[in-house]
Amino acid sequence: MKILPTFLVILLSSCGHSLDNGLMRTPPMGWLAWERFRCNTDCDNDPENCISERLFMDMADRLAEDGWKELGYQYVNIDDCWAAKERDSEGRLVADPIRFPSGIKALAEYVHAKGLKLGIYGDLGTYTCGGYPGTTLDQIELDAHTFASWGVDMLKLDGCYSNSSTKALGYPLMSKALNATGRPIAFSCSWPAYEGGLPPVVNYTLLGEICNLWRNYADIDDSWESVRGIVNWYSRHQDVLQPVAGPGKWNDPDMLIIGNFGLSYEQSKSQMALWAILAAPLFMSNDLRAITLKEASILQNKLLIRISQDPLGVQGQMLLKGKNNIEVWMRQLSSSTMALAFFSQRTDMPYHYTTSLGQLNITAPQLFSMQDVYSGWVLHQLEIDTEFTVTINPSGVVMLFVYPEMQIVQDWDKRRPEFSPLKL
Ligand SMILES: *[C@@H]1O[C@H](CO)[C@@H](O)[C@H](O)[C@H]1NC(C)=O
Ligand SMILES: *[C@@H]1O[C@H](CO)[C@@H](O)[C@H](O)[C@H]1NC(C)=O
Ligand SMILES: *[C@@H]1O[C@H](CO)[C@@H](O)[C@H](O)[C@H]1NC(C)=O
Ligand SMILES: *[C@@H]1O[C@H](CO)[C@@H](O)[C@H](O)[C@H]1NC(C)=O
Repeated sequence: MKILPTFLVILLSSCGHSLDNGLMRTPPMGWLAWERFRCNTDCDNDPENCISERLFMDMADRLAEDGWKELGYQYVNIDDCWAAKERDSEGRLVADPIRFPSGIKALAEYVHAKGLKLGIYGDLGTYTCGGYPGTTLDQIELDAHTFASWGVDMLKLDGCYSNSSTKALGYPLMSKALNATGRPIAFSCSWPAYEGGLPPVVNYTLLGEICNLWRNYADIDDSWESVRGIVNWYSRHQDVLQPVAGPGKWNDPDMLIIGNFGLSYEQSKSQMALWAILAAPLFMSNDLRAITLKEASILQNKLLIRISQDPLGVQGQMLLKGKNNIEVWMRQLSSSTMALAFFSQRTDMPYHYTTSLGQLNITAPQLFSMQDVYSGWVLHQLEIDTEFTVTINPSGVVMLFVYPEMQIVQDWDKRRPEFSPLKL
């Protein structure tokens, strides 16, 4: 018998509709250029790191050859600054001819040949945030058609240089226009981030109907302060944010910055764990040509990815934040399993935290086991009131996968798309 906490049952029955393009039934995974490579267009002096077809081909090679693709990281996503400064004579967007000499269609073919998908960036407004041609209301259908004709698989539509009324018209129109192309193109909407991210200004019911994912808060930067700011905003507003996510419609707290310069090892583990609890898109923005094994092992942790990709698609939330600055987060998963994250916002020393699922008011199977997602150790034969102690490092996390004791846990190592839920 499955025992679900009652609050969850209510959430499950109130999920509502999602964008009907069949895409992103679990949070999308892949790579996105922005945080790491920004608007670096200086290919003369920095040919390896400028926004160019070479960069995206390099990342596609790495995703395909270094084990990422098999784990589910399948999108290679272009962000701002890919376009020429002017549209062509027929008014169509074109890629910068120097930096993308083969064009986006050829890049899409290259990416597809590796078994990956290509994402592109646009902006609903006069200009993109970086000053490249934007998409005005009258250009929506043309641009959707252009992206589809290139074989693009995802569109991130930013919102610089337009006002709220234009956005309110434009985002639903783009969703329709993408659908009308006949090509399944996932739709990422930056709209709520421009409107403060909260109701009543933001209508999450509507977003769920027209977008597969949406950014609702500040852009991530390469710092722990930035990650913390996002996590704190998500926990502060979780009563609004948690119920609106589900298969095909995800809150997007922005890119994973693991592998860059701003996070320690502990902080990197925290970002990954919290993004999995939040059912967040896992778009890495890093240099896959130069990532260390230690960093890659966080991003490639199979049990963590399994948690992220749980088919129920229920976003987790913070259960409690103690005076000790330890936060307990929980995400309900399929097959009577769940993920717990003990997250330290302390700045002193490792903290020993003792609790039981009963003390956390979590309904659990009668007899259960827990596996530490990062260290791999397993604690067997726990009951609801069995106390256990975790040691959480400053700005670090201990993440536990909780499963009924009677389950034969297998298939963790099976790679997507073949892996199936736990067998009972
Ligand atoms: C377009 O929308 C219809 C109805 O919601 C849906 O059945 C169809 O799969 C969509 N097509 C694409 C390409 O997104
Ligand atoms: C919003 O922008 C559009 C297009 O530039 C303009 O026509 C409209 O008047 C603006 N609306 C408001 C409320 O400023
Ligand atoms: C939000 O959008 C939904 C779906 O389009 C609509 O039914 C509802 O009336 C909207 N809510 C508000 C407060 O505008
Ligand atoms: C668990 O429930 C008790 C009694 O309702 C309450 O006092 C306590 O704060 C709850 N603890 C958590 C972690 O929710």
